[in-house]
Amino acid sequence: MIRKTHIGRVPRPGCFALALLMAACAVPRPVTRPATPISPATDVEAPLPSTEAKTTSLRDGVFSQAQVEKGRIVFQDACIECHQPEAFVGPGFIDAWSGQTVDVLFQNLRETMPENAPGRLSRLEYAAVLAYIFELNGLPTGENDMPNLPKQLKEIRIESANE
Ligand code: HEC
Repeated sequence: MIRKTHIGRVPRPGCFALALLMAACAVPRPVTRPATPISPATDVEAPLPSTEAKTTSLRDGVFSQAQVEKGRIVFQDACIECHQPEAFVGPGFIDAWSGQTVDVLFQNLRETMPENAPGRLSRLEYAAVLAYIFELNGLPTGENDMPNLPKQLKEIRIESANE
């Protein structure tokens, strides 16, 4: 009989709590990760903005036999404890990278391998070990060593030997 509260003002705790909850959910989570994904290596110059690139491909003989031999030694020294070279031969490896440019693979390798000491090798050694891996995949050698700077490697497309 004693209804002090006006009907329109009856607090409805359930709905209130729900409204709070929804408000809480609507609040965007603070962004904890930096906007830029993987920071590029700082010890090399930034890649040039892409122009209509004069690209070559791995089929054009972009590494030398001498470089392959160096790469074989690097592989024996720094990779063989965890990898057989055959693991990097064939479609499973080269086709996965096909269409990318060598700088991406180079950078990836440099940032992750050898797994127990990423970045331990020199740029020359990473380039050599890649030349070795490419040669194992039947890609042709040429006159010159494959370069090891990003802007140069960006001009070389990864392709398998026979497509
Ligand atoms: C201590 C062990 C170890 C050493 C040394 C090592 N790796 Fe690895 N490597 C791994 C492991 C483990 C993976 C798989 C990691 C993953 O997929 O996240 C891997 C993955 C890779 C991959 C990717 C494979 C793919 O199919 O995409 C490449 C390429 C590679 N290693 C190259 C090398 C090269 C070249 C060297 C020598 C310079 C090297 N690794 C040395 C352990 C090692």
